Amino acid sequence: MSKDKVFIFDTTLRDGEQVPGCKLDTPQKLEIAARLDELGVDIIEAGFPVSSPGDFNSVNLISKLVKNASVCGLTRAVRKDIEVAAQALKHAKKPRIHTGIGTSDSHIKFKFNSNRDAIIERAVAAVSYAKTFVEDVEFYAEDAGRTDNEFLARVCEAVIKAGATVLNIPDTTGYCLPEEYGAKIKYLKEHVTGIHKAVLSCHCHNDLGLATANAIAGVQNGARQIECTINGIGERAGNTALEEVVMIMRQHPNLMLDTNINSQLLNDTSMMVSRNMGMMVQPNKAIVGANAFAHSSGIHQDGVIKNRETYEIIDPAEVGVTESSIVLTARSGRAALAYRSKNVGYELTKTQLDKIYALFLDYADSHKEVTDEGIHEIMAQSGFEF
Ligand code: KIV
Ligand code: ZN
Repeated sequence: MSKDKVFIFDTTLRDGEQVPGCKLDTPQKLEIAARLDELGVDIIEAGFPVSSPGDFNSVNLISKLVKNASVCGLTRAVRKDIEVAAQALKHAKKPRIHTGIGTSDSHIKFKFNSNRDAIIERAVAAVSYAKTFVEDVEFYAEDAGRTDNEFLARVCEAVIKAGATVLNIPDTTGYCLPEEYGAKIKYLKEHVTGIHKAVLSCHCHNDLGLATANAIAGVQNGARQIECTINGIGERAGNTALEEVVMIMRQHPNLMLDTNINSQLLNDTSMMVSRNMGMMVQPNKAIVGANAFAHSSGIHQDGVIKNRETYEIIDPAEVGVTESSIVLTARSGRAALAYRSKNVGYELTKTQLDKIYALFLDYADSHKEVTDEGIHEIMAQSGFEF
């Protein structure tokens, strides 16, 4: 049985760029868009064209540049937004308008001072209007995570009838538990008439650290698009991390799901986004953090030197990392010292290793990490001739 394809909708340039202090200029956005296209994402959300002339210009230039992916522009359920987005996307080979409105009781009451029926009318009007410009129209039900499922199903049914091709079910506030979010997607699959005409999409925020788990629960329950960003950047605590969901599906073939992503570009793409945004990646970040393939305790190092799979579930080469690293610290054992010493030209006998290990521990206790330079110093102190 072949695997089902999950579409990857990258929103690094829109939701990701909402990170305070991480604004990108147009050349940077173009560089990232070209890389996302090469990486194999299916949809690039290039910006929110009505928000500023700069964003309009970037979406316009990205539309001209991108060869394979669909290019998408965000709008509110407002005619002017939709007209401006359509204009910005006019050169895209595959344009998509992403329009929507808040559907939770809190959004309906406090943001719109409205009621449920009026919200459905506005949602339908926005999708119908967007359809006059492009075929591919994605609808987002903002704060769907806290929207009552029965009402959410009514909204979805209405916008599918109006021509929506994709239904985005955002957990805007990152509130849902994975079971809850998965059950929401399942409910929509089972209760929305015409659901087979649209792709359900997961857009999960990370306020409780559950963005990735929720997106995976979504696809396990029938969603077939994940909205995500490189390094998981985005509003507040961020969005689902692209590299995480892609590798979860690769590492768990029993999910029978896969994406079009060339995973060997993940590490480099992460560094490129980090550099352009001036936002460092936390060292312990899954898949792309500096320590994701680094081993520092003696027990782990011994295992990895014997066989990488003892402590690594991913071959680093698969995500574009050249090799696992054995970091020498005062917690390292003889196996790691011998291994790293050999890498810099010292083939140690057992007697040499025993003596040098004692020197190494003294040295390591006063250094955070023992570098290649440090190894040379220890060898010089040892009195052995190499
Ligand atoms: O988090 C959210 O609800 C959004 C929508 C605008 C899609 O980013
Ligand atoms: Zn969002």
